[in-house]
Amino acid sequence: MILDRIKPLNAILATAEKKSLHRSLGPVQLTLLGVGAIIGTGIFVLTAAAAQKAGPGMMWSFMIAGFVCAVAALCYSEIASMVPVSGSAYTYSYAVMGELLAWMVGWALILEYAVAASAVSVGWSGYFMGLLKSWTGFELPALLQAGPAWSMNGLLPVADFSHGVINVPAIVVALAVTALLMIGTKESANFNAALVAIKVTALTMFIVLTLPAIKGEHFAPFAPNGWFGPSGSSGMGIVGAAASIFFAYVGFDAVSTAAEETKNPQRNVPIGLIGSLAICTVFYLLVAAGAIGAIGAQPTAIGVQPGTAEFAHQCAALAAAGNEPLVCSNEALAHVLRSINYTWAGDMIGLAANLALPSVILMMMFGQTRIFFVMARDGLLPEKLASVHPKWKTPHVVTIVTGVFVAIAAALLPVGQLADISNSGTLFAFFMVAVAVMILRVRDPGRHRPFRTPLVWVTAPVAAGGCVFLFLNLPTEAQMVLPIWGGIGLLCYFAYGYRMSHVGRGLIETHEEDSDTPPVPVPPLPGAHTPGGKDA
Ligand code: ALA
Repeated sequence: MILDRIKPLNAILATAEKKSLHRSLGPVQLTLLGVGAIIGTGIFVLTAAAAQKAGPGMMWSFMIAGFVCAVAALCYSEIASMVPVSGSAYTYSYAVMGELLAWMVGWALILEYAVAASAVSVGWSGYFMGLLKSWTGFELPALLQAGPAWSMNGLLPVADFSHGVINVPAIVVALAVTALLMIGTKESANFNAALVAIKVTALTMFIVLTLPAIKGEHFAPFAPNGWFGPSGSSGMGIVGAAASIFFAYVGFDAVSTAAEETKNPQRNVPIGLIGSLAICTVFYLLVAAGAIGAIGAQPTAIGVQPGTAEFAHQCAALAAAGNEPLVCSNEALAHVLRSINYTWAGDMIGLAANLALPSVILMMMFGQTRIFFVMARDGLLPEKLASVHPKWKTPHVVTIVTGVFVAIAAALLPVGQLADISNSGTLFAFFMVAVAVMILRVRDPGRHRPFRTPLVWVTAPVAAGGCVFLFLNLPTEAQMVLPIWGGIGLLCYFAYGYRMSHVGRGLIETHEEDSDTPPVPVPPLPGAHTPGGKDA
């Protein structure tokens, strides 16, 4: 039975034990790691899309998304401190809900990590072009700065190339990060701390300069699209903006994936998760208040979804008339500062985004290769895919495959739609973690829990329900991606993983190697059954 294929928790924990020599991260570094992974395109770029969807009401959107992430983080903390190993939601699901669901979670995490890397690449592109224009006056032709706008015709996506064909800068940054990963660049903790300092300083400067410029009238009308958007629209209004801006908080789970390298993970992982989320929430609320208060949300026609052809036409018409509202800007925060005559500060925040966003791309792509590794280590993906380059000692094949996928998506899709697709996968993974916490409480109540989710029978259902609620308020197209992607995943599982799975073949093993090295073939345990039915 597929549902019986559960990886024993003790085997997973034995893996963690072997890692004790490599533990080096403390609570401060872990919190910085979280803040480094969290702050990125969401706040620097998607603030514009949130303003279009919700108007000034996006302040509520940040709070709703932050709340769902906080309860999800409390669930993550319990399970990450209990099972402090690599692989994030995939590993937890394997231990608790079995191989098939773990595969589906791992498959959904591809949406989270790889598509998020694409979204951040597009975000970087907007800031890079803005800074280049501000400093040198140089502009790439508009058609090479953005991918096409997409609309749905029934079930078929239709591309409109009139305002963009291909996002060249996004391709360049995605491939440059791929090259860095291939030659073995890992972010050192010190480098990460420097980038976090740049991002936090830039956002602090933004808050300090915009708060005195706040005007009360910019907050009216507070919710032009209401809570759920005009009827017939999807993904609009305050809640629709919350589902999109959820992307701004994604990344805190990077802390849990570092659990194997953490000193005293039972205490420090929860501190890192919740601490980084709390810091980012405070910053986001202040930045959103400053952006709206200083220049107003200035939404284009009510109810028009950002990223669509209709939205691109409206923004092009406004730009032709010499007017670029916040909602149309590709570099929202720099735009706000330049609009209140802080051109130098706009350039500085552009520079900060240019320097810092590639590290978010790097972390997302690195996270992706880790998930692939752990899945390959379990036999669910071909081991060849994870072969290591003889000189660089990096998983060059999987890195190239990931990099090309990230670059293609970044070339052809707008940032908001990429973020929404990424959110659909992430919400699924977070939902599964919340369910896993509850199952483990019932199935294994006596196991030591260094961190216990407070009020678990309230918190975990609220986290699971919050994920479903946000998912249902994503634009319809982004919602549809998850079942289609999941269907492809099921085909792949039954075509390959089901037969090759180590657990399915009775090969329960522990690993001394790090998860960023390839899986090594493991001899079957005595008495194990091979798929062919012969005893090994
Ligand atoms: N939270 C990350 C960002 O906003 C993914 O870019």
